[in-house]
Amino acid sequence: MKKRNRLIKIGHRGAKGFVLENTISSIEHAIKLGSESVEIDVYRCNSGEIVVFHDETLERLAKSNERIEDLNLAEIQEVKLKGDLYIPTLEEVIEIANGRVEINIELKGVNTAIGTFELVSKALSTENWKHGDFLISSFIQEELIKYRELDSDILIGVLSETSPIEAIAFAKKIDAYAIHPNFKYLKKSEVEKIQKEGFKVFAYTIKTTLEKQRMKKMGVDGVFCDYPGRYTILKKALRRVQVPFLNSDK
Ligand code: G3P
Ligand code: MG
Repeated sequence: MKKRNRLIKIGHRGAKGFVLENTISSIEHAIKLGSESVEIDVYRCNSGEIVVFHDETLERLAKSNERIEDLNLAEIQEVKLKGDLYIPTLEEVIEIANGRVEINIELKGVNTAIGTFELVSKALSTENWKHGDFLISSFIQEELIKYRELDSDILIGVLSETSPIEAIAFAKKIDAYAIHPNFKYLKKSEVEKIQKEGFKVFAYTIKTTLEKQRMKKMGVDGVFCDYPGRYTILKKALRRVQVPFLNSDK
């Protein structure tokens, strides 16, 4: 992640609010809207490849109760999601993104650290990617420990739904870069404490401009958003109708 003195907006699962989550189209859309960063979720499937998907099962997105981890890649590639979209591999996402956007890879499933590390390392051996273009995060501490053992430089984010302060000790232990709390439960005092301890705060997941303003006021460093670009679109519209006090956000 580049150093920025403003709120970083990370496209959640690509641009989930606009195009079906965790698909190539969703990521492309986030890039088109000017996102500098996108978040995706990954699992290791039965044949060993790392695939980009959020849920444990296919129920919500493909009306099947199969577990993603039980399927082989060939079977996953047959799955049709809404809008004739498909489940991509991490390799494909990295190849298509090609250094145009920073990627936060959330290790959603177990045994994902090694496969992800191999793909990220391959990308980093080309000139299109820099170390800071990747941020690895997870709720699963063992996966983050494994990743840190494999790469001492990679940026790591520790996900914590409700206990970001408790996450500080672990973040220190693995030399993390950021803590990622759920914005709904986050307090200003927690943001201050985490930052004082030397970590960035990236809060998930906002949908509205009001929520974004609230997070900005709280001083967080970044937000995951379902509608990346919405705020820019709104800002442009407001600029057109000249409401200057509402245009102060950078
Ligand atoms: O990584 C931030 C956010 O994606 C965590 O929650 O459930 O949307 O993966 P979830
Ligand atoms: Mg996620």
